[in-house]
Amino acid sequence: VMRRMQKEMDRGLKLETHEEASVKMLPTYVRSTPEGSEVGDFLSLDLGGTNFRVMLVKVGEGEEGQWSVTTKHQMYSIPEDAMTGTAEMLFDYISECISDFLDKHQMKHKKLPLGFTFSFPVRHEDIDKGILLNWTKGFKASGAEGNNIVGLLRDAIKRRGDFEMDVVAMVNDTVATMISCYYEDHRCEVGMIVGTGCNACYMEEMENVELVEGDEGRMCVNTEWGAFGASGELDEFLLEYDRVVDETSLNPGHQLYEKMIGGKYMGEIVRLVLLKLVNENLLFHGEASEKLKTRGSFETRFISQIESDADDWKQTYNILTSFELLPSLTDCDIVRMVCESVSTRAAQMCSAGLAGVINRMRESRGEERLKITVGIDGSVYKLHPSFKDQFHATVRQLAPGCDITFLQSEEGSGRGAALISAVACKMACLIG
Ligand code: BG6
Ligand code: GLC
Repeated sequence: VMRRMQKEMDRGLKLETHEEASVKMLPTYVRSTPEGSEVGDFLSLDLGGTNFRVMLVKVGEGEEGQWSVTTKHQMYSIPEDAMTGTAEMLFDYISECISDFLDKHQMKHKKLPLGFTFSFPVRHEDIDKGILLNWTKGFKASGAEGNNIVGLLRDAIKRRGDFEMDVVAMVNDTVATMISCYYEDHRCEVGMIVGTGCNACYMEEMENVELVEGDEGRMCVNTEWGAFGASGELDEFLLEYDRVVDETSLNPGHQLYEKMIGGKYMGEIVRLVLLKLVNENLLFHGEASEKLKTRGSFETRFISQIESDADDWKQTYNILTSFELLPSLTDCDIVRMVCESVSTRAAQMCSAGLAGVINRMRESRGEERLKITVGIDGSVYKLHPSFKDQFHATVRQLAPGCDITFLQSEEGSGRGAALISAVACKMACLIG
């Protein structure tokens, strides 16, 4: 998997093969040589993880360089009809949330610079301009794909008309995560998310980024590796459960790698395995409840809870009885084994991707040993009891020439988007 991933990454970077490559390797216009940064208050938006968030972030300059801190924070859940309706509905809802946030903090009169963490595949033309290639992770708002996302946000803010914002940067969540950790550890040149979806970005030599002119320095590339598998690269690893998850999703045939790893799908894989065992009379006396038969009912957080259970099986028992099942001890044991198999496979699949990226960086930099830090975030990584350890161990096994530090990002998307916006503001001033 690692080798195949590297091959697709290579194809994604090259002009000649970019269009047909499943891993798109999207340039982000975040460069290795920032021209200093502005300081002050920035508004950050975070769309694409479990929750939509609006944050106020303060960026400052200290003796050891820039720092950032989130001073105000509000979470909003996105209604299903905004996710799958029209782009106008979605962006109107977003600007309604911003308006609410500004009201709550009496900031309506301020025109702040805004950094937008938008966690979907975007083909950038610049740091504040990029078109959405395709939705992922259950979003499907019509009229957004193929359009400039910053434009849609600016239009929605204008339509509302009760506040003004200066949208200066749009970034992927992997990029925001990497940047938020970079200021803590300058070796952080990889960003990664294992949450609802799964993706990574890293600093690539400009001479290899064929989609952007220039050979100097490095640029951050958003791999969008979740799409790996669309050209059949994973065919022999896909199980019947993976195929059902894919066929019943909003984007069949796409994001196959992500569907083996991401929290949006992991619970559903477990549910399908459990149903199969019931049908073979190996679980719950051969009888499934209506709830267990319902698509999407087995949430990924249950996997974390079941695998965290002590020997008394209390949480497992409670979860299964909430499914109107009456499990025996053996049933609890089997359910836990299923959860472990699915999460272990996810951790190992994911480590093949990261080892592919890191080994590539070591080779292209011609370094005998590469010391590198990976900034990382996402609910699966943070909340599952053993995902982290299995994932770290397998990455290290697959990348023996590298010394890897994993740095968990705190408030990454808000702080990262603000820090990138602060650099973008400075650049805008310099250019005049
Ligand atoms: C958050 C980041 O903590 O993790 C978001 O701030 C990111 O930008 C998210 O999208 C991913 O995790 P999840 O589990 O919410 O999808
Ligand atoms: C999906 C998105 C990607 C994002 C990832 C993690 O894979 O396409 O842009 O980084 O989820 O949120």
